[in-house]
Amino acid sequence: MLDGYSACGLGEGLPSPLPLASNTNVENLQMRVAWLGLAGTVLLGACTSDRPTAAESPPADALFSEGPQDPGSIAAGMAIFRNETYGDETFWTDTLHLHEVIRSSVSPATALAVGLKVDVDALPEAVRSAIKAHTVDLNDPATTVTLLKLNAVLGVIGKVDDKNTLTRVGITCAFCHSTVDNSFAPGIGHRLDGWPNRNLNVGAIVALSPAVTPAQRAVFNSWGPGRYDPRFNIDGKNMPVVIPPAFGLRHVKREIFTGDDTISYWNAYVAITQMHGHGHFVDRRIGVDVNNPPDLVSSKLAALRAYQFSLEAPNAIPGTVDAEAAKRGHMVFNSVAKCSTCHVGSVFTDVNQGVLHTPAEDGQDPAYAQRSVTKLYRTTPLRALWHPPQLTGPYFHDGSAATLADVVDHYVKLQGIKLTDRQRADLIEYLKTL
Ligand code: HEC
Ligand code: HEC
Repeated sequence: MLDGYSACGLGEGLPSPLPLASNTNVENLQMRVAWLGLAGTVLLGACTSDRPTAAESPPADALFSEGPQDPGSIAAGMAIFRNETYGDETFWTDTLHLHEVIRSSVSPATALAVGLKVDVDALPEAVRSAIKAHTVDLNDPATTVTLLKLNAVLGVIGKVDDKNTLTRVGITCAFCHSTVDNSFAPGIGHRLDGWPNRNLNVGAIVALSPAVTPAQRAVFNSWGPGRYDPRFNIDGKNMPVVIPPAFGLRHVKREIFTGDDTISYWNAYVAITQMHGHGHFVDRRIGVDVNNPPDLVSSKLAALRAYQFSLEAPNAIPGTVDAEAAKRGHMVFNSVAKCSTCHVGSVFTDVNQGVLHTPAEDGQDPAYAQRSVTKLYRTTPLRALWHPPQLTGPYFHDGSAATLADVVDHYVKLQGIKLTDRQRADLIEYLKTL
C-alpha cells in the first residue's frame, strides 16, 4: 500500500498525526514535541477534513514492516521519477511559454550554465563523437532541441515535431533531484537519481518566461543555484530552501525539513502545486487546495515511492577522508559534541521517535518553519554530506552553513560546547563519511 497518502479523492487515508503545537512552557528545556499520542484521531473524507486524509494506524510504521520492494514497482517508479510530467506541460508550455524561449534562445551552453544536466547514455554514438570533435554547435538553440528530442536533458521532457520544432515542454522530479557524474564532460554524464542538483538555477529558468511579472521575476532571480522555494506560489513569501537529496529516506518516517508528513504526501504536493501536474491536492492545515483535473498523480505515487526508497545514499569517496580522524570524530559526535542526542540511530534522526524541534532549540530561523504544517524542524537524516563535486553543502534548510566547519561552529556556539581544535577537525572528518 501507499504510505497512507493519495491525492484527494481516492480512498487511501493518511494517518497524519499532527505534532502538538510547540511547548510554550519555558521551563521545559527540551521543548520536544511528540505527535504519536495523537494518532488515534481518525478523519475520513479526504477533501473535507482539515487534514489531507487520515487512517487509523501510523503508516510510517508500515514502512518498516514491508519486505523487500517489488522490482517491478521500482522499475516503474524510475520511469515516473525520470520521465513523468503529470501533464504539467499545460503550465510550462501553455502558461509560461518556455518552449518558445528554449527553441529561440537556450543553447546547450546556456542550459549547462543554468545547471541543466545531460544524460550521456541517451546520446547516440554519433552525437557523442561530434561533441568530442567539436562539430556540434553548443551555442545553437537547435542543438538543445535535438537533445530534448533524444530525452537527454535531465528532468525536461520536450515534444519535437517532424520539422524539428519544440512544441511542448514539461518537467519531472529529475529536474531538481538528479544530477550526473560528469564522466563525459562537465554537466554531461551518467544519471545520478536522487542526488539534488545544486547547480540548477530553477529561479533563473522560470524567470526566462515572458509570462511572469517583473515582481515575480525579481523573486525568481534572487534564489540562485541549488535553491527553490516550494511555497512561494502558495503564500507569496520568498524564502528559498536548499534542494535536498531524495535518496536515503527508506527508513525516515516524516519528510521535508519541517517533517510535515510522509513521502507520498510531499510527492503529491510537489507534483500538483509546484510542477503544476494534474491532480487534486488538499491540505487545510496549510490552507492549500489545488485542483487541476484530471488526476494523473495518485495512481503513480506507490511506484514512485518504491523507487525513491530504492535510492541509497552514496558512500564517501575512498581517499577523500582521513579514516583514523573520522573514527575519533565519531566519538566526538556521540559524546562531548552531543550531536547524537538528536541525530540518533542508523538514519541519524529522532524523527522516527516522533520528535521535532523548535527553531530556537536548533538555532534556526523560524521563518520557513512558520510556513509549514508543523512550524518545527525535523532533525535532518545525515546523508552524503560530502561528495564532491556534486555535494559540498551548503547545509541547513536555508543553506546558512556554507561548510561542515560552519555547521560545527553553529552547534558549538548554540550549545556552548567546548571542543579542542583536534576534536573539531575530527568531527568534521567524521561528518564527511556519513
Ligand atoms: C523545482 C525543484 C523541485 C522539483 C521539480 C521537485 N522537488 Fe522535491 N524538493 C525540492 C525542495 C526545495 C525540497 C525541500 C522542501 C522542504 O523540505 O521544505 C524538496 C523535498 C523533497 C523531498 C524530501 C526530502 C527529505 O529530506 O525529506 C522528497 C522526497 C522530494 N522532494 C521528492 C520529489 C519528487 C518525487 C518530485 C517529483 C514528483 C520532486 N521532489 C520534485 C525541490 C523540488
Ligand atoms: C537539538 C537537536 C540537534 C542537535 C543536538 C544537533 N542537531 Fe544537527 N540538526 C538538527 C536539526 C533540527 C537540523 C535541521 C536544521 C535546518 O535544516 O534548519 C539539523 C541539521 C544538521 C545538519 C545539516 C544537514 C544537511 O544536509 O543540511 C548537519 C550537518 C548537522 N545537523 C550536524 C550536527 C552536528 C555535527 C551536531 C553536533 C555538533 C548536531 N547536528 C547536533 C538537530 C540537531
